[in-house]
Formats: sequence, structure tokens, C-alpha cells
Amino acid sequence: MTDKYPLPPGPGHWTAWRLGLAFHRDPLRLFLELPRDHGDIVHAGLGQFHIVLVTHPDLVEQVLVTHARDFTKEHGPARQVIGNGLLVSDGDFHLRQRRMMQPAFHRDRIAVYGGVMADFSRRRRDRWHDGQQVSVHHEMTQLTQLVVAKTLFDTDVEAEADAIGAALTTAMQTIFLFPHMPFAGLVKRLRRRSAHRFDEAMALIDRTLYRMIDEHRKGGRDRGDLLSMLLAAQDTEGGTGGMTDEQVRDELATLYVAGHETSANALTWVWTLLARHPEAEATLHAELDQVLAGRPPTVADVPHLPYTEMVVAESLRLYPPVWTYLRQAIHDTTIGDYSVPAGTAVFVNTYGIHHDARFFPNPGHFDPQRMTRAARAARPRFAFFPFSGGTRQCMGESFAWTEMILVVATIAQRWRLRLAPGQTVVPNAGLTLRAKGEVPMIVEARK
Ligand code: HEM
Repeated sequence: MTDKYPLPPGPGHWTAWRLGLAFHRDPLRLFLELPRDHGDIVHAGLGQFHIVLVTHPDLVEQVLVTHARDFTKEHGPARQVIGNGLLVSDGDFHLRQRRMMQPAFHRDRIAVYGGVMADFSRRRRDRWHDGQQVSVHHEMTQLTQLVVAKTLFDTDVEAEADAIGAALTTAMQTIFLFPHMPFAGLVKRLRRRSAHRFDEAMALIDRTLYRMIDEHRKGGRDRGDLLSMLLAAQDTEGGTGGMTDEQVRDELATLYVAGHETSANALTWVWTLLARHPEAEATLHAELDQVLAGRPPTVADVPHLPYTEMVVAESLRLYPPVWTYLRQAIHDTTIGDYSVPAGTAVFVNTYGIHHDARFFPNPGHFDPQRMTRAARAARPRFAFFPFSGGTRQCMGESFAWTEMILVVATIAQRWRLRLAPGQTVVPNAGLTLRAKGEVPMIVEARK
């Protein structure tokens, strides 16, 4: 069926080694240069393997929505940490789990979590003092960890949230790898070396999660958190009862992994961008002062803070925390007018599309005005898609928007953050796209 279509164009002369090296050195640059040099869909053949990079909204829509059945998620290594959780499960099982967990993300639940988000943001900002230097990456990571720990397991023990957060990050970093890349063997060796750290982290994760499941089961009442919902969740259609403890553990680990680092990275970017764009910062402050009139924000304010949302959106465009992800062709198929053989690893180039001048003129410039609701609606669906789309769209999207808007509003109401002297901000594209280092910033009281 696909014979009449050619393979997509690409850097035919590139060897696996050169591609791997370029990816290792500067993946963001590679993901801008490949489409610039070869087009919206790029092919590289590495021995038996085919790799395709997709950098156009219409083609992404094919992969994620219209031809979604032709592709599967390829997440072998992550399974070691998050088992068969939502991020990696596939097919009917994934659909069933997603359906069971959906109620935990309904609007009324998000409103309850919003109370936690506002409260924790306030507590965090009240710990700071004028002139203090803070590590913004660390502060945002702790804050989002605490929010997810409270809303997930109803625990607000900071030490516990910290420990499990650190263990999950260690475990994920240890196993992280795009399985199709040519340096897979090397990473496997590194993994063996850090096997001990990995085992320790996993033991702590399991101990903590199973203890929490046990306590919740014994308590037997709805504590208003996600875990209570997971334990109560029944698959009404399948009649197969609730989830096993092991599956609940996998989903908790998944939500914890998926639910804090991404938001923390996004928030860190917001602060560095505001520090470098005083005019946007002033507009944000004016909105906060006008809408809130000095009282702390609550979840009810979120829909009335459009500019705050635009600032967050424009940060997500420039620095999408999930800057690329992978699908694998289940059988021979096509994308656009090109053939894609079975087994092809398809990279969705979120970063590249978010920086494409056809959709975002002067794409490197931070301009929240291009993120008005009307401007967003006028672009193709997959021109701005930090939360992906289709059946695998981020389940925590509303959670994340609510959280980021509340955190930004609460902190910016009282403080401005300035980059510490001599600091530059450099992107680091690994498992997620974050700012390199701890991002030290100076807290300055707003007059
Ligand atoms: C700024 C913050 C966030 C960003 C940018 C983000 C982005 C994404 C993206 C792009 C995916 C799809 C990945 C793929 O298909 O391979 C995803 C999936 C997912 N995210 Fe998020 N996410 C964020 C926050 C959250 C939060 C706060 C939660 C939960 C509390 C969450 C839970 C999930 C889950 C469960 C999935 C898997 C959905 C599925 O496959 O059915 N995310 N996220």
C-alpha cells in the first residue's frame, strides 16, 4: 500500500554516529536544523532502523489523531519505574485505565486541588524575604512536589514529598533513554554502574507508595485526594472491579513523575522570562493588582486572569517541558505523502513547531500577546500543543494550567524575581526541557 510513496527526505549522508553525536551535543539545535534543511518530515535510516522527525501541525495531527491507530508508544525503559501506568500503557488497557481515572480530573475536583495550590503557593511566597537569593528551580520543584503529594496522597509532610520526589527523579534519570538511539549500548552500561542507586530509589518508592495505599485502604473513607478516587474507581462498563494495588501504585508513580517536574520547569521558565521582559512583567502586575485588589488569588480568579495565562502559554511555547516524544509505527503506513515503514521511530517535534516562523513570526521572541484566546484559535490545532493531543493528550492539563496560573499570580502579586548577577539561562533538553542548573534569582519586594 505504501510502495507508491517515497521515504521522506533526509540527511542521507549522515551516519548513525554523527546523528547520535549531534543529538547528544545539542538536541534542540538539531531539531531546528533538520526541518530547516530537509522539510516538515525528515527521515534518517540507521541500519535496520528508520527514524522520522515530524515538524508540521497537519502531520502531527495525523500521527496523534487521524492515524493514531498506526502508532504505538515506545517506552520500554520507563516501565521499570512506572510499571504499566497511564503514561506507558497502551491499547484497551490504557483506555480502560484512563476512563477510570478521569473523574479525578473533573472540573469540581480541580477546584478542590486549586485550594491546595493557592495555599501552598502562599506559604512558599511568605517564606521569602526582600533581597533573598533563592534557587528558583529548587523552589518550584518543591512547590509542585508538595502540591502533587497533597492532592495525590493527602500528605503534606515536606520531607516525605522531597524524598519520594528525589527517588523518582533518580530512578527516571537512570533509566532514561530513547531506545532507538545509536548510543543505547553506552547508556545501558551507565545504567549498570548506577544500578545500586536505582535499586535504592525503587525500594523507597515502593515502600512509600504501598504504605500510603495501605493506610488509605484501612482508613476506608474518601479523603478528597486522587488516591481515594483511584481506590474507589470502578470500571462500570467492563465489570472487572477496581484496580489492583500494583496498578494503583503504578498510576501513583506515573502521576507523580508526570505531574511535578513538567510544571516546575514551566514555572522556572516563566520567572526567567519575566525577569528579562519588564514590559510583560508590568502588564502582568497591572492585571493582578486590578483583578485581585490586594487579596490573595483563589481558584475562582483563574478565569479572570487572561494575561497571566498568556504569559504561561508563551513560556510553554518557547520552552515546552515535553519538547519531543516518540511513537513507533505498528505497520507500514504513511505520513503526508511519504511512506513510513513498520517499526519506524517517529519523533514529534514540539520544540521545532513552537519555533516555526510560519506560525509564530520572530519565533525566538517572548511575546505573550500572541497567546490571546483569539490568536490561539486562529492557528492550526497542533501549532501550539505543549500537552499533546488525541487519545494520549496530557490528563493533567487542566490541573497544570490551574496550578501554573495560581503559582504565578500568588508570587508575582508580592515579589518580582531578578536573575542573580552574572547569571545566564541556558536550556537543557533531557527527559524534559529545563533551565540548566539551579537558576539563582533575587527576590525583590514589589513597591
Ligand atoms: C506544564 C505541565 C505539563 C506538561 C507540559 C505536560 C505534558 C504532557 C504531554 C506532552 C503528554 C503526552 C506525552 C506523550 O504522548 O508521549 C503528557 C501526558 C500525561 N500527563 Fe502531562 N504535562 C504536564 C503536567 C501534568 C500534570 C500536572 C499531570 C498530573 C497531575 C500530568 C499527567 C499526565 C498523564 C497521566 C499523562 C499520560 C496520559 C496518557 O497517555 O493517557 N501531566 N503530559
